[in-house]
Amino acid sequence: MTSPAIALIERRVSANRFDAGHALTDAEIEELVRLATRAPTAYNLQNWRFIALRSPAAKARLRSLAYGQAKVSEAAVTFIICGVLPDHAAIPQRLLPFAKAGYMPTSTVLAWQEGARAQYADPQRARDEAMRSASLGAATLIYAAEALGLASGPMVGFDAEGVMREFGLGPNEMPVMLVAVGRAAPGNWPQKPRRPLAEVLEIA
Ligand SMILES: Cc1cc2nc3c(=O)[nH]c(=O)nc-3n(C[C@H](O)[C@H](O)[C@H](O)COP(=O)(O)O)c2cc1C
Repeated sequence: MTSPAIALIERRVSANRFDAGHALTDAEIEELVRLATRAPTAYNLQNWRFIALRSPAAKARLRSLAYGQAKVSEAAVTFIICGVLPDHAAIPQRLLPFAKAGYMPTSTVLAWQEGARAQYADPQRARDEAMRSASLGAATLIYAAEALGLASGPMVGFDAEGVMREFGLGPNEMPVMLVAVGRAAPGNWPQKPRRPLAEVLEIA
């Protein structure tokens, strides 16, 4: 028997059509983001921020920066998923409760902090990590939505500088992906074909 988790991986599609009359409550939005933040991040940095646009006015502002894509305003919520440049100074705060509970020696927390400091001194690597964390958060949000019976539509078709300006992102933040989430309307495409495993998998 296929497990529910595998079934949702198999059936998820990138939705383009959403029921514009459907809304999500604060509690539903919070649950989606709570689940999204279960995604792993390097050094447990959790270097992301989720901006949930629900009001028609906020979604309209984003839509105009996303080449007019209708799903931005028709979905119940469109998330701006932001990556944040890693801050190694935040690592103790992210891990100390775990160390205090006895799972990790404090010396390891400090070693991770030093590892992150060295690794992200290079601005390109810091930016890559922000993109990676936000992408993992976005993917987890997408599957959480599916598990809650909601459709999702990821987007990179937007003006990143415009979004940063319009939604007040900090200089250490970047909008990595938009994800529209809501109830699917009729007319969505089925999942598109995937490349054969032989083209994408190497087992060494
Ligand atoms: C990072 C990313 C960016 C995307 N950007 C857009 C977009 O701006 N507009 C859009 O309509 N679809 C966008 N898509 C949806 C892709 O076209 C879709 O995921 C792909 O065709 C596979 O579709 P499927 O998952 O339904 O099989 C994006 C998907 C991803 C993962």
